[in-house]
Amino acid sequence: MRAPLVVANWKMHGTIAEGRALASAVRDGLKRPRGVEVVLCPPFTVLPAVAEVLAGSAIAVGAQNCYWETSGAFTGEVSPAMLAELGCRLVIVGHSERRQHLGETDAQVNLKVRAALAHGLAPLLCVGESADERRQGLTFNIVEGELRAGLRGLSPEALGHCIVAYEPVWAIGTGVNATPAQASEVHGYLRGLLSELASKEIAQTVRILYGGSVKPDNAGELCREPEIDGGLVGGASLQAQAFVGIVKKAAGRGATPKE
Ligand code: PGA
Repeated sequence: MRAPLVVANWKMHGTIAEGRALASAVRDGLKRPRGVEVVLCPPFTVLPAVAEVLAGSAIAVGAQNCYWETSGAFTGEVSPAMLAELGCRLVIVGHSERRQHLGETDAQVNLKVRAALAHGLAPLLCVGESADERRQGLTFNIVEGELRAGLRGLSPEALGHCIVAYEPVWAIGTGVNATPAQASEVHGYLRGLLSELASKEIAQTVRILYGGSVKPDNAGELCREPEIDGGLVGGASLQAQAFVGIVKKAAGRGATPKE
């Protein structure tokens, strides 16, 4: 069985003081989360403070991006080794905002996936189609292309250390989430591809998260789908109460959470 995972993507939000307060509130709101793993991904500048707040708790820290070299003359970049030193467990790779606004390519995403794995970080590879692509019936082509390119050249074992997020671009920050059926269909397709790329056994262990306007009131029905192994949460992760509510729904996989 895959333990559900909920990842907070704070994006470019918050001062150190705000990050500290938010992480403390999430930590206190969850106490000992059971049946679910939780990772907070603050901006780089806030990472050390959040890591300090979460030390000794069951909540882990992660990053929103990394470069693919360990060190060197790469002005402005942050390496997976630096993130590992801060205690990060996971790094988001290939988020659509980076693909869109920063021109991140599939080849770069693949280098980042490999670099993260080489430093013991789980890459959380994001894939997803735009509204236009969905209208044109290209959803499966797009997610397949991004998945294959992002994971290119990995051994089946390495593939087993990856996490995938299906994030339809049209659902990110719009308040319009994919329906459980829409997400489930794509997740099932992605898992089929993972079986082909690794093995059926390994594919069964890889978490596939859904991201795009996940909120406390839709997290339950999304996570109830057997193919949806948790969420990558943007906007709602900036409010402790909303995020804690989502985590509890994921822990219960849609059941009413027990306190
Ligand atoms: P959202 O963002 O929850 O604000 O839609 C999700 C994401 O971009 O990871």
